Amino acid sequence: MKIKVIYPGTFDPITLGHLDIINKITKIFDFIVIAIFENTKKKPLFSIKERIKLTKTATKKFKTIKKVITFNSLLVQIAKSENINYIIRGIRTSLDFEYELNMFNINKKMYPKLENISFFPSPKCSYISSSLVKEIVRYGGSVKSYVPKSVHLALIKKYRNIPI
Ligand code: COA
Repeated sequence: MKIKVIYPGTFDPITLGHLDIINKITKIFDFIVIAIFENTKKKPLFSIKERIKLTKTATKKFKTIKKVITFNSLLVQIAKSENINYIIRGIRTSLDFEYELNMFNINKKMYPKLENISFFPSPKCSYISSSLVKEIVRYGGSVKSYVPKSVHLALIKKYRNIPI
């Protein structure tokens, strides 16, 4: 059976934590849509165009990733418009769990067909976050073991004001 799933996030930038989840889901689902939320509330470092580019580059080897899209609306609206009933999320800690459960309940109320499929990241990825990665680079540290090479280069360029 072909199950279509949507993996939403801010992806500012995509990290090896996200890719760990992507690696897992590409082995299970054969139609995956990655949906990048513009998320002005988080004041992203990378523009939406840059995040698409970085995400596409980092995931191009996965044949089951059918689309990388952006959205600036409710997640349920984009899920409905893509005709997708399954949301993929990663749960790193009990704090993530509380947040995800809450989001799921709100989303389910708006879109009753929606289901959530959550994955635990591999332990080596469980402490990575996009904010931490950005902070390390901002202060001159190395994030080579937390992000793909293309993102590592993009981060260095970004903080040196070089176009990526
Ligand atoms: N391993 C390591 N880190 C991970 C990870 C993993 N597997 N999965 C996520 N992360 C990190 C991310 O890097 C991110 O770090 P940051 O907070 O430092 O940026 C953090 O965990 C959470 O990121 P993400 O999973 O991308 O979620 P998000 O909170 O940025 O985005 C949306 C969540 C986009 C799904 C949610 O806000 C949304 O649906 N928004 C649309 C509006 C809406 O419908 N709202 C709900 C109804 S009111």
